[in-house]
Amino acid sequence: MPVNSVYDCVVLPLSKIHNRAGNIVILESENHLPFQVRRSYYLYDIPGGEARGGHAHRELYQLIVAASGSFNVLLRDGKNQKIVMLNRPDYGLLVVPYIWRELYEFSSGAICLVLASLRYEESDYLRDYPQYLDIVNHQP
Ligand code: TYD
Repeated sequence: MPVNSVYDCVVLPLSKIHNRAGNIVILESENHLPFQVRRSYYLYDIPGGEARGGHAHRELYQLIVAASGSFNVLLRDGKNQKIVMLNRPDYGLLVVPYIWRELYEFSSGAICLVLASLRYEESDYLRDYPQYLDIVNHQP
């Protein structure tokens, strides 16, 4: 499998219905997302100055959405890095396998919604950065 790069992690516009009484974002796996959603979760009540993430996944695809407020996502692939600021509920960041991610600078009241392609499985995580670098730097 070729190594994924941070440039495979793109910000996607989400399907939105705009209305003067408020907006709706619709997330149907078949119609609106680049993978089948098997799990959703969200982070909230994140204390000021805290960081989340600090890991990569072997197989998991995720779409990360700032459902409320804002935060930064630092992406690394072993060679390149990029920082994406998420601050709109109608855009989502696609994060592909073997990308290291760190989420930080959460605004007060931020909600980080995550749609994921697989059920939770600890063996899918790479949590040790030196081990992660060793793996991605030895992939073909
Ligand atoms: P983790 O994915 O490390 O959190 P983050 O990337 O947001 O910092 O998960 C934190 C803890 O929650 C860890 O013990 C695993 C557990 N967890 C589940 O049991 N199921 C899940 O779907 C998720 C996302 C986490």
